[in-house]
Amino acid sequence: MSPQRRDIRSGYIEWAKLRSQARYNLAQSDVEHFPLADLHAQITDLEISGPGGYGYEPLLQKLAAKSSVPVECIVHAQGTSMANHLAMAALLEPGDEVLIEEPSYGAIVSTAEYLGAKIRRFPRKFESGFQLDPREVERSISARTRLIVITNLHNPSGVRSADAKLRIVGEIARSMGAHVLVDEVYLEACFDSRWQTAYLLGPNFVTTSSLTKAYGLTGLRCGWIFAAKPLAERMWRLNDLFGVMAPHPIELLSVLAFEHLAEIAARAKQLLTTNRALLKDFFKSRRDLLAIWPEAGAVAFPQLTSGHADAFCQLLRDKYETSVVPGRFFEMPEHFRIGVGGKTEDVREGLAHIGAALDELAAKS
Ligand SMILES: Cc1ncc(COP(=O)(O)O)c(C=O)c1O
Repeated sequence: MSPQRRDIRSGYIEWAKLRSQARYNLAQSDVEHFPLADLHAQITDLEISGPGGYGYEPLLQKLAAKSSVPVECIVHAQGTSMANHLAMAALLEPGDEVLIEEPSYGAIVSTAEYLGAKIRRFPRKFESGFQLDPREVERSISARTRLIVITNLHNPSGVRSADAKLRIVGEIARSMGAHVLVDEVYLEACFDSRWQTAYLLGPNFVTTSSLTKAYGLTGLRCGWIFAAKPLAERMWRLNDLFGVMAPHPIELLSVLAFEHLAEIAARAKQLLTTNRALLKDFFKSRRDLLAIWPEAGAVAFPQLTSGHADAFCQLLRDKYETSVVPGRFFEMPEHFRIGVGGKTEDVREGLAHIGAALDELAAKS
């Protein structure tokens, strides 16, 4: 039985806020926070209140220039979280069917549930390298499906979906009169390759993203949605029932962040290159983990060759002061998610602790 609407909550976000903290935090999926001081903002750059209206024009212009999406198709939102909420609220009526990848980022499922959607899943199988498989979408879609939801890079595995596959999914959706929502918050971390937003793949694509994860700018909550103009307008009007408008100092700081985005990205790229090399070596050294290597991003989602990750994650946190995300939050309890976007010394130490905890478990069994 589905829970009462007022009882719906995100178990994962609750856990991340209250129980993921540890001396070595490899549970986070973003890169190390970018400090305000390095933005070289002066207090005189800020102002408390702005012009109002639907979006701060200089910020929308920055997003348009970055993505080649016209301003009228851009909605500013508080993080990818609110972007996903607005997008789904604008696209779904209670009782509509939504087809969501599995495993998936739990808050997407909870939001769809909160909106009264009927949730169906299509698998992204570990045995197939967590790849997006359009045939699985085709098998699961129905005439009642209004929306397909995909994360790219995939959370939890970090696996990237090629435009060619997304395009096929777009065609399948179109044949049923459905939209495709692609959450691209981790795609921003593909620093080594060129990419474009899936919004540009076809008229039934809607995409969401933010500056949160890849740039370490979590606190700005600078998120956005790309959608066809009538949909974008619907989302702006819906936001009048939620956030109404963004805090203006944040809009100003976000514009400044876009002005410095190349430097911010270079710092993140360097950190991820170093830390991902550590993670790759770590995986090579372990026979008790099966891992799909993602081509970019800060996370990976290994499987324990035996046992349940909950006990392992508990031991790791209690005895080794290190946290990773238990796979149960992604509906795969034999897995856990490692994030390597933190300080390199902490990642190195955290990985050593994961190794020690695995050894201890192996010795016990
Ligand atoms: C796939 C996905 N989308 C959205 C979010 C939330 O992003 P934001 O901080 O921009 O709201 C997360 C956070 O973990 C995520 O994994």
